[in-house]
Amino acid sequence: MDRNRKHKTMSTARRLENRVAVVTGAARGIGRAIAERFAMEGARVACLDVSAKRIEAAATEMRAAAFDVHPYAVDVGRRDDVHAVMQRIEAELGGPVSILVNNAVYARYQPIEEIDEATIDQMFTVGLKGIVWTTQAAVAQMKRHGSGSIINLRSAAAVLVMVNSAAYCALKAGVAGLTRASAVELARHGIRVNAIAPGMIATPASIGFFDQATLEARQRAQPLGRFGQPEEMAGVAAFLASSDSSYVTGATLMADGGITIVGT
Ligand SMILES: NC(=O)c1ccc[n+]([C@@H]2O[C@H](COP(=O)([O-])OP(=O)(O)OC[C@H]3O[C@@H](n4cnc5c(N)ncnc54)[C@H](O)[C@@H]3O)[C@@H](O)[C@H]2O)c1
Repeated sequence: MDRNRKHKTMSTARRLENRVAVVTGAARGIGRAIAERFAMEGARVACLDVSAKRIEAAATEMRAAAFDVHPYAVDVGRRDDVHAVMQRIEAELGGPVSILVNNAVYARYQPIEEIDEATIDQMFTVGLKGIVWTTQAAVAQMKRHGSGSIINLRSAAAVLVMVNSAAYCALKAGVAGLTRASAVELARHGIRVNAIAPGMIATPASIGFFDQATLEARQRAQPLGRFGQPEEMAGVAAFLASSDSSYVTGATLMADGGITIVGT
């Protein structure tokens, strides 16, 4: 995996100066990289995660690197808690939220004949209802701000089906529909809604499943010859959050190293 390191992106731009941003599932992986990148670009970042311990620890590390990040422990599947935390964020970070990244996920991979009710309920509660609750709560503040950018994490898996991923594919196809529908509904408020569809990104949650031989074979199958890094998804998120993408809404940016083109 070392050859991937040189692909980490470092920003010198400060396109998000004085913006208040919310990133869900920010304790690790792609969410954490997005939180860091937004802070690097000048935003004050509320980092949400269901694990109080992990989000506090991650925020302590990020603050040690001088990032302006603020930890909030919340389950995005709980509507009242999400609305309450969004109000606290506005009060504590000194302004309305104008950027929201819906990144949190609860993902399990089971054959369709074995999917159990508790698992699928939790996946859809976090990954679909959670987006509805955070969007509702953030939009109330974005309307007062006069604009906003909402970014939902989809997946190449909604296009390119993997084994044992029926529930995950359905979940991410649902995110695609939510993104396009809310982009149309919210456009009149100056709020843009877009999605990022990552391919194989080197996070513990994704590469932890595979043995070394499978990992290497999968890397070779990628047109770019490697997995993506969380920081590369953060660069895409920063573009969608910033005014550089001011005429982009309802779009999905495929950030998948080209894998969905070749369909391996
Ligand atoms: N890693 C990949 O290869 C990949 C590929 C395609 C899409 N994605 C998508 O990107 C996003 C991030 O992926 P990742 O690999 O970094 O995930 P991850 O599993 O490493 O991190 C997800 C975070 O969400 C948090 N979370 C779970 N349930 C929550 C809840 N109820 N409330 C708040 N937070 C909760 C977890 O604690 C965790 O910190 C996900 O939406 C995922 O589906 C990832």
